[in-house]
Amino acid sequence: MQRINSLSEYFKKYELSEKNPESFWSEIADSFTWKKKWDKVLDWDFENVSINWFQNAKLNITENIFERNLKERGDKTAIIWEPNDPNESPIHLTYKKLYEETCRFSNALRSKGIKKGDRVIIYMPMVPEAAIAMLACARVGAVHSVVFAGFSSTSLADRINDCQAKMVLTSDGNFRGSKTIPVKSVVDEALEKCSTIESVIVLERTKQAVEMFEGRDFWWHDCVSEETNICDAEVLDSEDMLFILYTSGSTGKPKGVVHSSAGYMVYSAYTFQNVFQYDENDIYWCTADVGWITGHSYIVYGPLLCGATTVMFEGVPTFPNVSRFWDIVDKFKINQFYTAPTAIRALQAHGLEPLKNNSLESLKVIGSVGEPINEEAWHWYHDNIGKGNCPLVDTWWQTETGGIMISALAGITPNKPAHASLPLPGIHPVIVDPEGNELVGNNVQGNLCIKFPWPSIIRTTYGDHQRCINTYFSNYKGMYFTGDGVKRDHDGYLRILGRVDDVINVSGHRMGTAEVENAINEHEEVIESAVVGYPHDIKGEGIYAYVIINSQSSDDKVKGEIVDVVRRVIGPIAKPDKIQIVSGLPKTRSGKIMRRILRKVASNDFGNLGDTSTLLNPDVVEEIINGAN
Ligand code: WT7
Repeated sequence: MQRINSLSEYFKKYELSEKNPESFWSEIADSFTWKKKWDKVLDWDFENVSINWFQNAKLNITENIFERNLKERGDKTAIIWEPNDPNESPIHLTYKKLYEETCRFSNALRSKGIKKGDRVIIYMPMVPEAAIAMLACARVGAVHSVVFAGFSSTSLADRINDCQAKMVLTSDGNFRGSKTIPVKSVVDEALEKCSTIESVIVLERTKQAVEMFEGRDFWWHDCVSEETNICDAEVLDSEDMLFILYTSGSTGKPKGVVHSSAGYMVYSAYTFQNVFQYDENDIYWCTADVGWITGHSYIVYGPLLCGATTVMFEGVPTFPNVSRFWDIVDKFKINQFYTAPTAIRALQAHGLEPLKNNSLESLKVIGSVGEPINEEAWHWYHDNIGKGNCPLVDTWWQTETGGIMISALAGITPNKPAHASLPLPGIHPVIVDPEGNELVGNNVQGNLCIKFPWPSIIRTTYGDHQRCINTYFSNYKGMYFTGDGVKRDHDGYLRILGRVDDVINVSGHRMGTAEVENAINEHEEVIESAVVGYPHDIKGEGIYAYVIINSQSSDDKVKGEIVDVVRRVIGPIAKPDKIQIVSGLPKTRSGKIMRRILRKVASNDFGNLGDTSTLLNPDVVEEIINGAN
């Protein structure tokens, strides 16, 4: 895999990627194994959103993980798994063993009738089998859609129905900190609302009692016991779907972001290698969950394509105590550590005491992802975890981009606190004003767009291509719109300012305000609600809900019930942090809620509420201010 070694080389590659993107990308793609090479590197159209990378090439991504790596790295550890309970033994899976387990499970999938193109839902805890499940789907050409195991049965059912999945892979339960969480029973509940699922394969993890439905449900260990550890990889076209991952947007239900085989493979591997500057014997750890894109690209695919050793952690940073992350770093001598600002802030709040027995001296690179990292957290992370001498890569990207887009290259790009810094080679960001004019030069601020395709760009939103066009390619003609605000500073470094649409980022998780409102509105006494984000010390943004109710019960009782409803409809991650019962919402004469005002009140920023003269009901503003939490 090509690796950039100096800043001057970075600038050289960047220039090449601008002048001759096809030659830039084909050189990188050359280091992979292809069943058939491409006829043309790139063919694209941002108007109808038809994007073809490595046209007509044939491949299987798992052959690039296994067959391509096995000769040199068969006995190298591919995955180190650290269980929730530190007293349970970790598991080290070599490339050879992971390959065999993947083949075995691929055969099991085929035995259950899974074929190329079928959608398979993965709703599993952070165990090696979750990675094996993904890889086995990829091996047989099935399209996986991983659903974070913290989502509710309703959210799970919505995703199953949207992609018409044929199978669910799950576990009996999930160990998370001191809790044991039911998983299979959530699947059972979801499947009451689904008709496309033919079978469910259940991994035994917690050994809690579960119901198994005859003819539909099978134990993982039974499914693999009869299978061999050899399995031919399905030959896929470069643009065949690799996976669907659901993510929240500013309107309606989550969208199924579709990634395709070749482009995603090339981009996830290239960015992993270059951003983290991975060396052959390094141990790399990303703390994300495989239910999010970070887990897909930088726990599973990117590292394994590069022959890296990747750590998977089942538990949480606070169990059995708040030293857990640092204990794991020392235990496995982690060299690259990649986490979210929310985790940093939460641990920072415990001070330096939890670090006093940890050396952390193995660390070479530390990374941040998922939300803007504030300067205070940046310095704390850099000084106390990186000991002032590890480059900190602040990586900006999205589910839709498939891989890291804007980031320092570790040890190469000069660090600048709280700045994602420079685009990777091949990425051409532009800053636009609301009218779509490109703002050139330094010291400008606006909306972040990308004007040229990269290999792992979103191909479509599953089942609704028009939605993909409307959401990402219609705001600004000829460009992909990210939904983020950005500033280019006097040095030309980029600083991400956060979402400019109705999406909030809670602990690095993307949440559509409309989605949370819809959940709140399911409470029978709720008449209307409006949800906004507000600055939260740990979570980055908290969820603030304004709710109009028609109720005889006490406000406190209803508030508690609203929290329960959201937990039930979406999952605990979407629970409102603050709920304010109001008699009305500030609306324009055309009936649109003026969220700008609600955001200011939620942020305790009452001073300048801006122009309220166009409001239909200006009186309600006073009431909202007086009742603010
Ligand atoms: C949104 C994408 C990328 C994987 C995890 C989240 C925000 C992401 C950064 C960063 C500032 C960031 C953006 C983006 N975001 N990384 N380094 N600095 N903001 O993926 O759920 O698709 O969310 O996360 O607002 O649009 P996602």
